[in-house]
This record gives sequence, C-alpha cells and structure tokens, in this order.
Amino acid sequence: MLLTNRNMIAIDLGSSSIKMLELSGSREKKIVALGLKTIPEGLIVGGGIENPTEVGQIISALAKQLGIRLKGRRAAISIGGTSVIIRRLLLDDASDIVNVDDLVKSDFEQQFQLGIEDLCTNFYLDSENQYPDGKMPVVTAATKQVTVQKHIAAIKSSGLKIGLIDCSALALVNVLEYTYGKVPGLSVIISVGAQSTQLVFTLFGQYYYNRDIPYGGNHYTEEIARLLKIDKAKADSLKISANSSQGETPAELIKIFSEVNAQVIFEIAGTIDFFFSANELPAEITKVQSFFITGGGSHVLGLDAAIATKFGVSVSILAPFHKVDSGKFEMDYVLSQGHFYANAVGLALRKFEDDLE
Ligand SMILES: Nc1ncnc2c1ncn2[C@@H]1O[C@H](COP(=O)(O)OP(=O)(O)OP(=O)(O)O)[C@@H](O)[C@H]1O
Ligand SMILES: [Mg+2]
Repeated sequence: MLLTNRNMIAIDLGSSSIKMLELSGSREKKIVALGLKTIPEGLIVGGGIENPTEVGQIISALAKQLGIRLKGRRAAISIGGTSVIIRRLLLDDASDIVNVDDLVKSDFEQQFQLGIEDLCTNFYLDSENQYPDGKMPVVTAATKQVTVQKHIAAIKSSGLKIGLIDCSALALVNVLEYTYGKVPGLSVIISVGAQSTQLVFTLFGQYYYNRDIPYGGNHYTEEIARLLKIDKAKADSLKISANSSQGETPAELIKIFSEVNAQVIFEIAGTIDFFFSANELPAEITKVQSFFITGGGSHVLGLDAAIATKFGVSVSILAPFHKVDSGKFEMDYVLSQGHFYANAVGLALRKFEDDLE
C-alpha cells in the first residue's frame, strides 16, 4: 500500500482531556498540529475507556478543530494507569526470550486475576543494554484484552487506523531520552495527571520500574473545595490562579497546597523505598539523582520545590518540546503547554511499523 503520510497522529487519552499531536520530519521534528479537548468525568478511568464511541467522537471533533483529516491516517496511542503492568526482567541469555511469557505469566495472571488468554502481552529486548556477562534485559507488559479492544474501538470509530499501541510509562521514557539523552544515574519521572500521578524510574536512561499513585491534580481541587466549602469550579480556578498570583495567595490556600503536596511526597518516598528494596542495583546507585516533573497537575503551587526539599535533589521540568521546532505555533505558547504533552511527544516520536488491524 502506498502511504502518503507516514507521520502518526499521537493521541494521549487522559482522564481529564485528550491530547493530539502530529510531528513531521525524521531527525528534526516539527509540530504540525497540537491541541487538546476536555472530556466528561468518568469517560476514561484508570487508563480504561468506558465508552469508545464517545471517545471516538471527541477525537474526530478535536481533529476537525486542528485541521487534521483522519481518513487513512494512523494513530499512536498508549495505555496507562493501573490498566497496564510492566516488568523488567533479566534473562541469563538472549536465547531465553522464548520463555519470557512463562517467566511473567503467573505474575500477570495474579495481578489481573485473569488467565493469560484474556491478557494482551508484549515485550522488547533491551539489547543495547546487555550486561557484560551476557545477561539480557527484557521489558514486558500486559493489559486486559478488553482494555485494548476498547482503545482500538475508540480509534476506529474516529475514522483513524491503529499505527501503534504503547504503554504510557514507556512513552515517557522515550520523550525523556529524546529530550535529554541517556540521563546519568537513577532518575524518576513524575507525571502529575488529573486522577493519578505516574512515577517512572530510569537507570542510565533505561526503563526500570513504574507505579501510579492515586493522587493527581484533581485531588488538590477536591481538598480546596472541601476545606474552603466552595464548589469544584471555584476551587479549580483558585488552584490554577494561585501559581500566577505572585505572593498574594491566601494563607489558608497555601496550607492546603502544602498538606496535599506532603501526601503526594509521602507516596513518592514510599515508592522510592520500595524500589530500592525490590531491586538489585549497582552498588553506586544509592539515591535518586534527578527528578523530572510533568503533567497538567505538576504546576500546582510549591510541588516541585517541596520534592526538591524532601529528597535534596533538584527537580527539573520535563520540557518535551525543547528539541522540537514549533512550526506555525508561537514558541512561547508551545513551551507553556509542554507539561500537557510529554506523553503525546513520546508517542509522536515512535515510528510506524506494522498495520495492527
Ligand atoms: N496551571 C495549572 N496549575 C495547577 N494545576 C493545573 C494547571 N493546569 C492544569 N492543571 C491540572 O492538571 C490536571 C490535568 O492534567 P493532565 O491533562 O496532565 O491530566 P490527564 O492526562 O487528563 O490525566 P491522567 O494522566 O491522570 O489520565 C487537572 O487536575 C488540572 O486541574
Ligand atoms: Mg495524562
């Protein structure tokens, strides 16, 4: 088949909004289209789609708004949240790959409480990072068949074809490497979404581990609404304006931010402790060397500073458009939107390989 346009359209199906991004170019990337649309609460929960047709309609409407014609085009999407489980294993030898499904089967079955036949699994060999003794890292992922089918149904009902289905955590690892190269030591990407916060651990740029914690930007809104006895819309605008009000934030609001920040940090610290206890790491890796923060909720007042204070390490903003040409968009606008698009950039960088239909 002759493909007239091989760029995939990256679609990040978030719980509060759907982001769409198209990049052109092979080495130098340039933005062709960029935008997002808010979705009703409850439509995408924990990475799973409740109503694929409705999601398809929102994707079509967003594409129309951005001037993208969907017919014949392919989408790169990801599955995230608690809907997907990723494991990094070390094989004694690359030829052990034939047994990879057996190695993780019982773990995946137990996690999902389903037989392997009802799961969709995939893996990649990380041959670039093979150990000197021949041990081979492999990253393997599983999700429920039904979750994948709903994602495919949503994409198809918008008129798009599926080009690639990734895991959100791996899309974040991809954008980190594209933007900053192989980051030395142990890094944690903290992606603060609406309902949850995704933590992704990388060691010298390789995926190592990820976990979702059940607090996201919406948790701040809910706490502001509850404690100040105001409705959610008002609470949300207080949360968003607090960042730009330059020292005028009322003390009671600052107190709420710092309490919720402390809850989020408590979960991050617990996850880091677990990470160190559950992994055999090289002796020189004794602490997290860098944090990269992203996601709409990462702009919440004081979160980056509170993380830096707690762990004694500087926190960088993951700027996914740092190396991307802004094309027809104003550079300032693109940079100001970066926190929403890390996942989408990670997907848009992927190459189309197979027609999955
Ligand atoms: N300027 C801002 N300051 C603070 N919070 C913000 C700001 N802008 C957006 N948010 C919050 O960011 C959250 C949405 O972020 P994002 O779009 O990354 O989530 P999502 O991808 O839809 O969700 P998830 O990844 O959890 O599925 C909301 O809670 C929103 O209120
Ligand atoms: Mg998200």
